[in-house]
Amino acid sequence: MSARQLSGRKASSRADPILVATASEAVLRAGATQRQHFRQDVRVDKKGRIDLVTEVDLAIERDFRAMIGERFPDHAVLGEEFGEYVPTSSSASHCWVFDPIDGTVNYAHGLPIFCASLALEINGTAVVAAVYDPMREELFTAERGEGARLNGRPLHVSKCDGLVDAMLCTGFPYDVHETVDEVIGLFGDFIGVARAVRRLGSAALDLCYVADGRFDGFWEQRLHPWDMAAGALLVAEAGGTVSTLSGGQFSSRDGSIVASNTHLHSLMLNRIDSRSSI
Ligand code: IPD
Ligand code: CA
Ligand code: CA
Repeated sequence: MSARQLSGRKASSRADPILVATASEAVLRAGATQRQHFRQDVRVDKKGRIDLVTEVDLAIERDFRAMIGERFPDHAVLGEEFGEYVPTSSSASHCWVFDPIDGTVNYAHGLPIFCASLALEINGTAVVAAVYDPMREELFTAERGEGARLNGRPLHVSKCDGLVDAMLCTGFPYDVHETVDEVIGLFGDFIGVARAVRRLGSAALDLCYVADGRFDGFWEQRLHPWDMAAGALLVAEAGGTVSTLSGGQFSSRDGSIVASNTHLHSLMLNRIDSRSSI
């Protein structure tokens, strides 16, 4: 494993408890709205050929921005639906990275696998994470250096150390129609060596499930910061490892992610590497 990968728990520099509480409150609030409108007559628009947005995504993100603007007017916000807001009066060391619904396609089709995902980055490093799944009432939280939790109980990655015993997960980017060979090629490689490979449709939940040992590893390409900033911190704080697809240092801005229980990390990277060098 490269030293540049994000692995295990780092030294604690505890975040302000108000910031930690705000993160949980925001995703719980988002989850309540998701639940209230789930399978109701929600307006759905297309952002791309297969990329959707519902009126619920928009309403939740508006509400979130108002909450942060009121409580922390000098903080920046990066959200999926309304982009980046940086207050003019400050250098904005703090940035809230928010996905109002991760799993929008599932949500629009009435499939109950989705969540709200939020990370607070300070000077580019995620220090607080909260992901909430309102259908299962599961609140995943992490604080850098303080571990990861599910509804308050500590989370740990799995112990699996061979791909043949591993339950893996992945996701497909919205440009999959143009990149099907590349995406399915890698998917096929892992199907050929793992016990099982799943595709649930919510990258943030996929990462929470790695943190909780339900999945042993996850990979995806062309993700956005709001899909993975929170989940990556959860995995690292639960004892896992997070890197780019080429094994470099993880950054929520870099688009690709491999997240594992640490034991499988180099095995997954080797698989990915052997495909990219074909
Ligand atoms: C998507 C989900 C999905 C992943 C896509 C993401 P959205 O986010 O996380 O699992 O495969 O790449 O864009 O659009 O539901 O917020
Ligand atoms: Ca997303
Ligand atoms: Ca989304």
